Amino acid sequence: MNTRILYALITLYAAFPCFAQNSGQPNTCINCHSELDPPLSTPVEQLEGSVHSHAQINCTGCHGGDPNQEDPELSMSPQKGFIGRPDRLQIPQLCAKCHSDALYMRNFDPNISVEQYDRYKTSKHGELLAKGDGNAATCASCHGVHDIKRTDDPTSPVFPTNIADLCGLCHSDPDYMQDYSISTDQLTEYKKSIHANLLYEKGDLSAPTCNDCHGNHGASPPGVMSIANICGVCHVIQSEYFSGSPHKAAFDDMGLTECEACHGNHAIQAADDNMLGVAENAICVQCHDKDSDGYRIAAQMRSVLDTLVHKINNAEIMLSKAQRAGVEVKDENMTFTNANDALVHARTQIHTFSLDKMKESTDAGLEAANEALSIGQQALKEVGHRRQMLIIMVVLTLLVAVLLILYIRASEQKS
Ligand code: HEC
Ligand code: HEC
Ligand code: HEC
Ligand code: HEC
Ligand code: HEC
Ligand code: HEC
Ligand code: HEC
Ligand code: HEC
Ligand code: HEC
Repeated sequence: MNTRILYALITLYAAFPCFAQNSGQPNTCINCHSELDPPLSTPVEQLEGSVHSHAQINCTGCHGGDPNQEDPELSMSPQKGFIGRPDRLQIPQLCAKCHSDALYMRNFDPNISVEQYDRYKTSKHGELLAKGDGNAATCASCHGVHDIKRTDDPTSPVFPTNIADLCGLCHSDPDYMQDYSISTDQLTEYKKSIHANLLYEKGDLSAPTCNDCHGNHGASPPGVMSIANICGVCHVIQSEYFSGSPHKAAFDDMGLTECEACHGNHAIQAADDNMLGVAENAICVQCHDKDSDGYRIAAQMRSVLDTLVHKINNAEIMLSKAQRAGVEVKDENMTFTNANDALVHARTQIHTFSLDKMKESTDAGLEAANEALSIGQQALKEVGHRRQMLIIMVVLTLLVAVLLILYIRASEQKS
């Protein structure tokens, strides 16, 4: 069957009202396409639940053509602006027709950003596409085509819990990425990270996924100089401390990548004290040789931190002993909490890479821990004291009881 006959049959078919979907405004694109076989009918079903359909955007919004003509030749006529199936390389311009038009978009949402296309052009994806490389992600690779959802819809491919897998569709596929020199391990590495654990296991949407570090539309690796800024969006204090530390200028000079140099990028793990110091597995010794100042200070910082940890542990043991012995330790617990807060702050202050600055916290922590310890000791002493009293009371009671029994027996014998 040639297309002309097919068109004629379809026109006839769609002309019967019982076949046409005429809820509201008649729309020949929808009427006719809904009667066709997939894939020609799929767009109709998909568009129905999409954000665009809610904004009253129909087939012609993207494909052009005339939705009032029954005759497909007229309806899908290039004279009526019909573009057919958009070429992959043209998709960003197509979406930008509306999404970069501030006046138009304001009709729908006064706050909506109209910078996606401008940003996209600066991304690695946009640069490649502009060179004619269709492997790069286009707007449709990330958002879908006919079934585009609002970005805050949990079923949207760009909802936080879906993004990593979306990027992984290309970035984890060695065949797809074979022409490029970058690795394909970002997704598997990311899934091992504390950030992914928070996002997937704890449902914490504030944990970063790919786009939080790479941007939504300007996706490119953060430059060496700006990594602290990116991590610093969330880790504000560490970033400030780092920027004021001796590492800032030294790392910039040597082209070292700030936070990444010590924490990595995709598989970032929970931090622990073993990272600090001069033991074999500490990160400081990766760069600091034995006789350097950095080495000496790293060792001192670790030792000061260990002392505090040790003191806090002792205080904790003492306080829980007292608690088990039944002594009320509410105030003591307050002091103990202060010591722990100081330890948390000291671990953050490591990023000043200054012993003196870190000691501001550890000294305060030691003071609180010592206080908690001595309150605990005092409490236990009191418990000991109470026990002694108790024993004396028991002995006395027993004595009285024995005397009483002897007295009773004696008076029984008499009678
Ligand atoms: C009376 C039926 C009919 C009407 C009306 C109709 N189409 Fe089609 N359309 C078809 C058929 C059949 C095909 C597949 C054959 C072809 O590609 O020409 C098709 C193909 C398409 C394609 C794919 C073209 C390609 O290059 O792969 C698009 C996009 C499309 N239609 C959009 C529209 C839009 C938009 C309208 C309304 C302005 C519309 N259609 C109106 C029947 C119709
Ligand atoms: C938001 C823009 C947008 C809207 C609205 C839209 N389309 Fe599309 N359509 C596209 C893009 C982009 C492609 C190309 C997808 C690709 O290459 O993967 C496409 C592809 C198609 C194709 C080819 C599908 C294929 O698998 O070969 C058809 C047919 C089609 N659209 C019909 C329609 C119909 C019918 C409607 C209305 C119900 C519609 N489209 C609404 C953007 C849109
Ligand atoms: C590499 C994937 C990717 C590409 C390519 C992409 N986007 Fe996005 N887009 C996203 C992500 C991720 C978000 C943000 C989701 C969020 O904020 O949680 C987003 C958000 C949006 C939003 C919501 C408003 C906003 O700016 O936050 C619009 C509109 C949008 N994109 C349109 C586009 C258009 C148009 C293009 C092409 C020029 C495009 N996107 C290309 C991933 C992408
Ligand atoms: C005919 C104009 C038009 C075209 C073409 C168009 N859009 Fe839209 N788009 C809109 C409007 C209007 C909205 C609804 C804005 C609103 O209500 O917040 C929207 C909403 C969106 C949203 C949801 C934004 C949010 O706030 O979460 C995304 C994502 C999106 N479009 C992506 C695309 C992509 C990708 C393309 C190209 C394939 C495209 N759009 C083509 C007009 C258009
Ligand atoms: C449709 C496939 C596809 C999707 C989906 C995709 N990308 Fe890409 N991306 C590519 C290709 C191809 C390159 C080019 C690789 C190169 O030149 O080294 C690239 C490059 C990049 C680069 C630059 C790497 C470099 O070498 O400078 C970053 C960063 C990036 N993508 C991040 C993302 C993020 C984040 C997402 C998800 C929000 C994503 N991509 C989704 C295909 C994709
Ligand atoms: C916590 C921040 C962060 C997250 C989350 C993140 N990245 Fe990265 N990514 C980086 C940093 C930092 C670099 C290295 C930049 C440099 O060294 O110049 C990088 C590099 C890349 C590169 C360049 C090639 C390479 O491996 O060095 C690609 C591609 C990439 N990331 C994609 C992704 C994808 C896909 C995801 C999600 C699965 C993701 N990233 C999640 C921070 C992040
Ligand atoms: C979008 C926000 C966000 C971004 C961006 C981000 N993180 Fe995180 N990160 C978190 C949250 C939330 C946690 C868990 C709570 C906490 O410990 O602070 C976390 C935890 C961590 C931890 C473990 C902390 C611990 O207690 O053991 C490290 C290390 C870390 N991030 C480093 C980085 C680095 C390095 C970067 C940049 C490459 C980065 N993060 C980017 C939000 C973010
Ligand atoms: C020179 C190495 C080094 C650099 C650079 C570095 N860190 Fe750390 N970071 C550490 C060490 C060591 C710890 C371990 C703290 C501990 O004892 O638990 C740590 C712990 C952390 C923690 C968990 C403890 C806390 O502060 O809550 C976060 C979050 C963190 N770093 C984020 C960052 C960020 C963000 C950057 C960049 C601004 C950065 N780090 C740069 C060495 C480094
Ligand atoms: C990626 C390499 C690298 C790592 C890892 C690293 N440093 Fe450094 N550090 C440097 C460089 C480079 C300098 C500046 C030159 C110098 O003084 O050695 C420096 C300087 C210092 C200084 C200032 C020394 C002075 O002269 O006053 C201290 C303190 C320091 N680092 C502590 C640490 C600690 C603690 C760690 C581990 C948590 C660490 N560094 C991990 C590269 C590194």
